[in-house]
Amino acid sequence: MKNNFSHLFQPLKVNSIMLKNRIFSSPMGMPAHHKVLSTTYYGNVSLFDKSAGGAAVVFGGAEAFADDNCEYPKYSRDEMREALSVMRQYGAKAAKGVMPHKRIDLSRNPRDMFEVFGAYAPSPYMTRTGKLAIEMTKADIQEMLQEGVKEAIAAKNFGFDMLYCGAVHESLAAQFLSPAFNKRTDEYGGSLENRMRFAIEHVRTIRENIGPDFPIVFAVSASHFLKNSFEFEDILALIGEVKDMVDLIHVTAGLDVVPGYFQDDPIIDTSLGLEAWYWVNGKHCQSIFEPPMTNVHWAAKVKEKYPDKLVSVNGSITTPQDAEEIIAKGWADAVVLGRPLNADPYFGRKAQEGRSEDIVPCLRCLYCYHSATIHTNTQCSVNPRYRRENRVPLELGEAKLKKRVVIIGAGPAGCKAALTAHERG
Ligand SMILES: Cc1cc2nc3c(=O)[nH]c(=O)nc-3n(C[C@H](O)[C@H](O)[C@H](O)COP(=O)(O)O)c2cc1C
Ligand code: SF4
Repeated sequence: MKNNFSHLFQPLKVNSIMLKNRIFSSPMGMPAHHKVLSTTYYGNVSLFDKSAGGAAVVFGGAEAFADDNCEYPKYSRDEMREALSVMRQYGAKAAKGVMPHKRIDLSRNPRDMFEVFGAYAPSPYMTRTGKLAIEMTKADIQEMLQEGVKEAIAAKNFGFDMLYCGAVHESLAAQFLSPAFNKRTDEYGGSLENRMRFAIEHVRTIRENIGPDFPIVFAVSASHFLKNSFEFEDILALIGEVKDMVDLIHVTAGLDVVPGYFQDDPIIDTSLGLEAWYWVNGKHCQSIFEPPMTNVHWAAKVKEKYPDKLVSVNGSITTPQDAEEIIAKGWADAVVLGRPLNADPYFGRKAQEGRSEDIVPCLRCLYCYHSATIHTNTQCSVNPRYRRENRVPLELGEAKLKKRVVIIGAGPAGCKAALTAHERG
């Protein structure tokens, strides 16, 4: 197969496993109630198409939580077993998120479980449901670190190929690192050394418990785009502390969900009104108004500082040409694609087969992004199969019953309808 992407389709060894190429599918977790709305299987994130479409690694979400025996609940097991078998079928490796998320309150719904149990946080900020988060005691910190270990063991035992953890987005490790969320005065707050402590212990306890050969990806948000949060230099320092315990550094940015705020210390520029929130979510999941390859300049700096470490990067990498350039120029070793694989999960396969002009590009319209659509949408503007693989066929055969068709309107939808009608005879 002839293509112009010799770097993109080079295999990559990550610890004990060999990846078939440099394309990873970005974490695309879904709020639980979206699972109820969606009728698709395969772990609710179009894993079938993404695996069949050529991704070397598919990141599952961090939603399934293991019990004290390091086992997942029955229905999570059923769903994940199906997802893993689909990934295996196509030679993709499965990565499982192991963020100790269980007690972070990212909900907007005051009736959620945190009403009863209380949400954990480094410091007692106001959560989005208007409840005060509980400042974690040292015993709580130990409990959360053990949660991470349980998740890691469960993922390894269940058959996942890699783990994904880190000080990323709104994860507890990122909250501890961030002075915007962490006001502690003990050894977990204050100086950078103290704010890094939770993240370092998180990685160390996982590595000690899963052994040296199991691949770990450590993800970082290069910036939170919040007032008073950490600096990129803090992230570089943290990478320096954990790099020998992990196998690949993944560079992303921003927050998916802002977990809370201190009323007397605004974390956004409130004078900007609603626009201020754009600077958080719109930088994490970028719109068409942002430049492409948004996080690559940070990944390149990580690579420059730690040249022996494998680095991956995501954020608006929408064409195989851009992906190839990133790897060819040594800015990163792998690209992690989120929405581009929602729009066209067959991105990798088409590029490899020399058919990159057939790739349906992501518009960066944010229609699929739950934060942008206030958790009301589960669709993609350009891929009707996204999360509906079981009822929207990949290819439409010739129609059994042929009819005369009139198409009114010659925009993109009208043209596509005409082409489809033609293909179906
Ligand atoms: C529908 C949707 C769900 C997402 N879920 C997660 C998630 O569970 N965990 C995560 O770290 N990032 C999540 N993200 C962010 C993506 O992984 C990625 O960082 C972001 O979309 C930017 O990359 P892209 O331009 O390749 O899409 C999600 C994004 C979208 C659009
Ligand atoms: S809905 Fe829009 S942003 Fe999301 S994948 Fe589809 S085209 Fe891209």
